[in-house]
Amino acid sequence: MKARVTVHRDFRIGLIDDRLYSAFIEHMGRAIYSGIFEPDHPSADANGFRTDVLKFVQDLKIPAIRYPGGNFVSAYRWEDGIGPKDQRPVRLDLAWRSKETNQVGINEFAIWAEKAGIDMMLAVNLGSRGLEDARDFLEYVNFPGGTHLSDLRRSHGTEKPHDVKMWCLGNEMDGPWQVGHKTAVEYGRLANETAKAFKLFDKSIEAVVCGSSNDRMPTYPEWERQVLEECYENVDYISLHKYFDNKSGDTLNFFGKIEETGRYIQAIGGTIDYVKAKKRAKNDVYICFDEWNVWYHNIEEDGRRWKSWDWPEAPELLEETYNFEDALFVACLMNEFIRRSDRVKIACIAQLVNVIAPIRAEKGGPAWRQTIYYPYQFASLYGRGDALNIAVDCLTYDCDAANDVSYLDVAGVHDREANTLTLFIVNRHLTESVELDVSLGGFPKARLIEHLVMQGHDLRAVNSPERPEHIVPTQGSGVGIEDGAVKGTLAAVSYHVLRFS
Ligand code: AHR
Repeated sequence: MKARVTVHRDFRIGLIDDRLYSAFIEHMGRAIYSGIFEPDHPSADANGFRTDVLKFVQDLKIPAIRYPGGNFVSAYRWEDGIGPKDQRPVRLDLAWRSKETNQVGINEFAIWAEKAGIDMMLAVNLGSRGLEDARDFLEYVNFPGGTHLSDLRRSHGTEKPHDVKMWCLGNEMDGPWQVGHKTAVEYGRLANETAKAFKLFDKSIEAVVCGSSNDRMPTYPEWERQVLEECYENVDYISLHKYFDNKSGDTLNFFGKIEETGRYIQAIGGTIDYVKAKKRAKNDVYICFDEWNVWYHNIEEDGRRWKSWDWPEAPELLEETYNFEDALFVACLMNEFIRRSDRVKIACIAQLVNVIAPIRAEKGGPAWRQTIYYPYQFASLYGRGDALNIAVDCLTYDCDAANDVSYLDVAGVHDREANTLTLFIVNRHLTESVELDVSLGGFPKARLIEHLVMQGHDLRAVNSPERPEHIVPTQGSGVGIEDGAVKGTLAAVSYHVLRFS
């Protein structure tokens, strides 16, 4: 199969917001407890954080992290997680039928985030609670001192305010499963008033309003229209969530779900434009895709377990093991985010450790990187700069999810400061290699400085504590530049990062 790709430095989509490579972590399962925090672990630091996990997190160069939930946040009392640890209450987490010990709260998480080099993006509870508690939380977290709540924080040993600029107004409020679920109008009004109050406190705060929980919700995309009509002028982002599966075992259809995601983003983009026009608004609202990942390997078994278990503490939950096929899927999804980065400014892999995560960590045992860690990492490391609009001429296929899906999935990023160009390429064909021919316009002196590749694995192959490095990227070969064109052969089902300077 042949593929002709045209890249030109002047065909720019726009500057990518670094926060496209953000993450999400929730108080659920073993994400926090025995994921990032395990005081008895041999690698734990003085604050009780696992340094083995922390190192894997640092290597991802994550710009921002959404915390503390998720469904958890909709019945969470933030003040349970502050002050002396031995006085913090143990509470029932209604979302995941678990016990929450509150040994990690906002101040501990802030220490971890700082060690990890990540900015916090905090979610407030607009399910069981409302504006008043949200604004108290904001004051506790962000005000320097001299008020009851800011002095309370200082008395807890956190002198400096955390100065969190990104705030999520609740979580998945369209979902009937959500504690405090609301109609679009009820929620839109509450979100508007909360965003307004937050901006009265500090006008540089950015507010993220909840969109639909996914594009299969019966209220999608009416939900977005109604919510935005209530709050458009006071919010900066609308959230999208989507989890992916290959339950049918049809790999090409699984890969085709990338197109479905593009349609989802486009539809919400259109809804944003519609509401903006209707309201004669001047401000722009962008997309915050703050939960995305593959999630299906254990979903049914997990559902059976947690819905009937007896309120355990930090139980094993949603500990998906990702295979090579999932890594290829994540590579394509990162490409789609780059191609849609004019609309999508923030995106968060959900989640970061143990719970549907690129990093796994056994309690008292080793941590390892799953297959999906690498495409997420490469996008984060090399996907900063201008997203390029790239033309791809290659064989296509039809599937349930979409028609005309190109076998070759390509995204490109030009970092003008570093003077580098990176092409992220997936050959989705199950059996055929691709003869690649890329014309590089406007990069007359380009030289290939690195070729990273993931290929040659069974689609079901995984990493595990026994074989943690079974699937890792390697240095590629067989791709080079001839007369200003990049030529080479890309094996069937393979992922490539081609870096030029
Ligand atoms: O990430 C797991 C859960 O998925 C989150 O708590 C919720 O927001 C979504 O439904």
